[in-house]
Amino acid sequence: MIKVPIAVDMEKVRADFPLLNREMNGKPIVFLDSAASSQKPQAVIDQLDAYYKQQNANVHRGVYQLSQEATTAFEKGRELAKSFINAGSLKEVIFVRGTTEGINLVASSFGRKFLQAGDEVLISAMEHHSNIVPWQMICEERGAKLKVIPINEAGELLMDEFDQLLTEKVKIVAVTHVSNTLGTINPVKEIIDKAHQKGVPVLIDGAQAIPHMKVDVQELDADFYTFSGHKMFGPTGIGVLYGKEEWLEQMPPYHGGGEMIETVTFEKTTYNELPHKFEAGTPDISGVIALGTAIQYMQTIGHEAIQEHEHELLQYATEQLKQIEGIRIIGTAEQKASVVSFLAEGIHPYDLGTILDKLGIAVRTGHHCTQPLMDWYGIPGTVRASLAFYNNKEDIDKLIEGVKRAIKMLG
Ligand code: ALA
Repeated sequence: MIKVPIAVDMEKVRADFPLLNREMNGKPIVFLDSAASSQKPQAVIDQLDAYYKQQNANVHRGVYQLSQEATTAFEKGRELAKSFINAGSLKEVIFVRGTTEGINLVASSFGRKFLQAGDEVLISAMEHHSNIVPWQMICEERGAKLKVIPINEAGELLMDEFDQLLTEKVKIVAVTHVSNTLGTINPVKEIIDKAHQKGVPVLIDGAQAIPHMKVDVQELDADFYTFSGHKMFGPTGIGVLYGKEEWLEQMPPYHGGGEMIETVTFEKTTYNELPHKFEAGTPDISGVIALGTAIQYMQTIGHEAIQEHEHELLQYATEQLKQIEGIRIIGTAEQKASVVSFLAEGIHPYDLGTILDKLGIAVRTGHHCTQPLMDWYGIPGTVRASLAFYNNKEDIDKLIEGVKRAIKMLG
């Protein structure tokens, strides 16, 4: 593995991200779209390069030294992911392409095994499409029903309604840890505890939580927890699905192919043990290894420093935006992380985003893959600034200046 530099001064940390030195539309880039995909530190980029230059070979297949080395490096990535989320066993750490695949895997495999006609799946009103559509698909196939925990205007789950919805018909609850659109941090521990009291397992979509806070799957007692590498400073195309062994053992494979088998005849196939049962085909070897580097990188900074810095920036951005006339912030939960979504009166989010782009400021505009949530608020979309630990106060000042300028031009 590449040695990860130790740097806790956030300005020094920022210097680890080469892309932040480039320009966009002739202006130094202000990158405020980390919820869509984060930038990568040099250590992760170097790791990918080093793998292909020095270690590239398939894993779990060769007796030759190079393949063994690649296998060792790959499995080291699994160990790092295991300790990062405090999984109980390596068998519970499955590599997937990202959060979307993690949820699809559980919806399909758990659903085929455990969902019957008349059963219910409980999600929330603030879910990303990737935690809605896979459940809709399996519900349709199995004759089950999708139920939705409502929210209040601030974008917080109505927990009394959750209690009511959690009937004996519910076979699984699937909620996001942090909303990608609102920034709300959901009370997932409480949700899990309540669901477990009724014997119902819970999947947590951790895509927007893992880059910002310490996640301990055993402390949460989550049955499934999934996240993407590319949002936590690692490469695209790699993610993790944590699942409790007791569930994964009972669930059928998701994909069939090499690696996931024990023996194959034309009459019958028996499956490999966990976690390989769920990892058909050649995995994203370089992705896993570089994800390990991203984990080490985050650990050198430390979750406390990350949270403190981002919380300060979020407060600052929120206060500054509130002072601009005509700005409406969408998502004002008590517990929030790193996302500020807003609208400027009379201006379409897309137009505002386009002007910000011309000023070198990258934000996401639109429905953020949460169309039902936008419908609930009765809005077409928002402008979303999302933060990472490499952002600074100057980025926020430029955003505020840009928004003011756009309002002057378009308002
Ligand atoms: N889910 C990602 C986002 O919120 C792509 O932007």
